[in-house]
Amino acid sequence: MVQLYKHEPFTDFSQVANSEAYQQGLGMVKTYLGQNYDLVIGGEKISTENKIISINPAKKEEVIGYVSKANRDLAEKAVQAADAAFQTWRKVKPEVRADILFKAAAIVRRRKHEFSALLTKEAGKPWNEADGDTAEAIDFLEFYARQMLKLKDGIPVQSRPNENNRYDYIPLGVGIIISPWNFPFAIMAGTTVAAIVTGNTVLLKPASTTPVIAAKFVEVMEEAGLPKGVLNFVPGSGSEVGDYLIDHPRTRFVSFTGSREVGTRIYERAAKVNEGQIWLKRVIAEMGGKDTIVVDKEADLDLAAQSIVNSAFGFSGQKCSACSRAVIVAEVYDQVLERALELTKELSVGDPEDGANFMGPVIDGQAYKKIMEYIEIGKQEGRLAAGGKGDDTTGYFIEPTIIADLDPYARLMQEEVFGPVVAFSKAKDFDEAIEIANNTDYGLTGAVITNNRENMEKARDDFHVGNLYFNRGCTGAIVGYQPFGGFNMSGTDSKAGGPDYLILHMQGKTTSEAY
Ligand code: NAD
Ligand code: ALA
Repeated sequence: MVQLYKHEPFTDFSQVANSEAYQQGLGMVKTYLGQNYDLVIGGEKISTENKIISINPAKKEEVIGYVSKANRDLAEKAVQAADAAFQTWRKVKPEVRADILFKAAAIVRRRKHEFSALLTKEAGKPWNEADGDTAEAIDFLEFYARQMLKLKDGIPVQSRPNENNRYDYIPLGVGIIISPWNFPFAIMAGTTVAAIVTGNTVLLKPASTTPVIAAKFVEVMEEAGLPKGVLNFVPGSGSEVGDYLIDHPRTRFVSFTGSREVGTRIYERAAKVNEGQIWLKRVIAEMGGKDTIVVDKEADLDLAAQSIVNSAFGFSGQKCSACSRAVIVAEVYDQVLERALELTKELSVGDPEDGANFMGPVIDGQAYKKIMEYIEIGKQEGRLAAGGKGDDTTGYFIEPTIIADLDPYARLMQEEVFGPVVAFSKAKDFDEAIEIANNTDYGLTGAVITNNRENMEKARDDFHVGNLYFNRGCTGAIVGYQPFGGFNMSGTDSKAGGPDYLILHMQGKTTSEAY
């Protein structure tokens, strides 16, 4: 009997034993810095001359690893391997598929701090953020394994006398998993195993800035007993390998998490029926956000400021769920801004290997440049109230930045910055605050800080986001507790960690037998 699902607890690093365990994890990661990682196609390890070089964004000179890069020929070989493996994997019992996920969860749990330390080095995640990412990866393994066990006998349907009707879910085929760098473990692993446990075979193309954690995860799945060819590891360029796989007539679905720009391009591309293709491809696309915390005049204002600051600057604001806009009712605007400024000044920025730092670097030089450009735009559109400076001499560090007094339609209020920058805007009353909260193309997360029950219910009805939170921040959805995914240009609202997520990777088959 499988135990009831409970999310993986977060580590309390104020306990000496836990902080020592993390340091040991860092020590372990240091032993394999700069190693080579191969592609894995049909179980065969393939080294290529062309490599992705993964570097530490906090220390640019430190190489995390060299990861082989697929080209079109290797992508073709991977499709063939996945296609062949599908013929057997689709018939493997769901219990056996689920057991592989349970075992992988146990392996990751045993090596938890090592994986978190690797996230600190490869993605620049502070300890608590890295720990949350690893915990979420474990949660996806545990949760989706149990979800598959619930679905294994299909859904009951009616039968008449002398008839037996069944409604079962069967896998789709070969899937392409394209994952982002900001949850390089949790989202990469979650999207991969959701496809695998449902009986599909996959081609995993991780983000080029964080391929080493993905390579390590592929090793874990192999150790957990996953047969060859089910999970094929094909890092490579989006335009070369990505397009090739998406256009391929034998790929059946795409599970993408990343930017709106790339997601909409994939969505369009996958809609085309290419020669030899006998199905319409399915696309799961989870994309960007421009997430708002609304503060009512009847509210705990300290909680409001805390929620804004934590949600805006946790992992340097590089979360699709990050608070990038605070919309505050006029009567309390100055007070909340003032308190947010005080809290922001207390935040330390530096090497995330030092557990005392709240914020580490942003992911790379391109992100650094884009965020600094947005800060300049913000200075022109509004008032720079905190931060604003960057330093990219050793790593890509940017101060936590608040731009105040913005017009609701300013670029800083509309475009995803994906860095430690939060825009403040004033609303004349609560109704206007909700209108402003809804005035972007996105609809991922949002929060409302209020003690007014009527306003809370209004927001429940009218604040149009996939994940709405009350009296807390807008980040940190937990698998199985707060299914996660957005509306409008935030994606296809495929709720990761939710009760209906696995079905997106399957198709319903009705069988009816007459006696
Ligand atoms: P990105 O779109 O740049 O890259 C995502 C993935 O797509 C990477 O693996 C990349 O290599 C790949 N890619 C790029 N071009 C491609 C192409 N032409 N064909 C196929 N694949 C291609 O996004 P990112 O910078 O890695 O991640 C940040 C973005 O992801 C932000 O916009 C953030 O909001 C979003 N995000 C959304 C969610 C969510 O659940 N909604 C979660 C995390 C991140
Ligand atoms: N699941 C992540 C969060 O909620 C993206 O912050």
